[in-house]
Amino acid sequence: MDIKRAVVTGGAGFIGSHIVDTLTAKGAEVLVIDDLSSGKRDNLPANVCLETLDVRADGVIPLMKEFRPDTVFHLAAQMDVRRSVDDPLFDCHVNVFGTVNVLTASLESGAQRFVMASTGGAMYGDVDIIPTPETVLPLPISPYGISKLCGERYVGYFNDNGLPGTVCRFGNVYGPRQDPHGEAGVVAIFGSRLLNGEPCTIFGDGTQVRDYIHVSDVASAFLAAAERPGGVFNIGTKVGTSVNELYAILADEAGVTDGPVYAPARKGELQLSTLDPGLAERTLGWKAKIGIEDGLRSYIRWLRENR
Ligand SMILES: NC(=O)c1ccc[n+]([C@@H]2O[C@H](COP(=O)([O-])OP(=O)(O)OC[C@H]3O[C@@H](n4cnc5c(N)ncnc54)[C@H](O)[C@@H]3O)[C@@H](O)[C@H]2O)c1
Repeated sequence: MDIKRAVVTGGAGFIGSHIVDTLTAKGAEVLVIDDLSSGKRDNLPANVCLETLDVRADGVIPLMKEFRPDTVFHLAAQMDVRRSVDDPLFDCHVNVFGTVNVLTASLESGAQRFVMASTGGAMYGDVDIIPTPETVLPLPISPYGISKLCGERYVGYFNDNGLPGTVCRFGNVYGPRQDPHGEAGVVAIFGSRLLNGEPCTIFGDGTQVRDYIHVSDVASAFLAAAERPGGVFNIGTKVGTSVNELYAILADEAGVTDGPVYAPARKGELQLSTLDPGLAERTLGWKAKIGIEDGLRSYIRWLRENR
């Protein structure tokens, strides 16, 4: 089914704006709902309609009923793990109540598909099976992971009750327009510091491994997920990259020969997390295309031209 009218919540943010670009390139009419708490109008093409609104607001249901989307991409979220620890109630309001509000609006406006952005790292936590498949029981320990899991379960509930829905659990997303405060902020922080000639700090010994995925691969996964509603999919590369390796590639592309500065490890940080994307590859026909080295080097080139 072609997407003709789509709502993208959080569409003015890093990942959401790339989904908006992909949808508009395919000729879809897009309505972005974003409170601009971290997103920017400038991330969006001028012809895309932006409603500056909190996803928890009463206005979401009448707005979406008027727009009548066929597909809804839900990315608006409180996504700062540390903030979720400091203020679990706020995190729950945005990520649980906000998600149920958007699901209700989607159902009432006659949408036929719903795709939600979720997280791999915060969902599975410290597990023995690496790369981690979706069959591993999620036991999140942070309020952020818990609220995302709750949102996922609501997507499942609505899926069984009239609104076909899919969940995409991302690895650490990086690429153009990334804000240094996001979950994978390390790429953006290091990138801008390296180009500014400032030192970069690595917390711990830099051997922490994550599954970094380029934002254009995430956008294509979202579109593929909308085609095949139902289920929960890991969207990752299976490839682990340590912070030391990541720094070495970014520094090399930036032309910096100095090493990083090391500081004490942060309490509670995961040591190893990669996602097994096999289910998405088999079911959605989706596979990440951009390797980590090419992706990081192209990000530095983008940053050089756009900062
Ligand atoms: N960046 C990552 O590595 C990563 C990894 C896993 C999951 N995710 C998920 O992907 C989604 C998008 O993340 P991102 O990296 O693009 O972050 P982002 O901060 O750039 O985007 C989030 C957008 O949501 C908007 N927003 C926040 N709260 C809102 C509210 N209450 N009402 C309306 N709009 C609101 C923000 O203004 C922003 O534009 C989130 O759901 C996040 O949990 C991101």
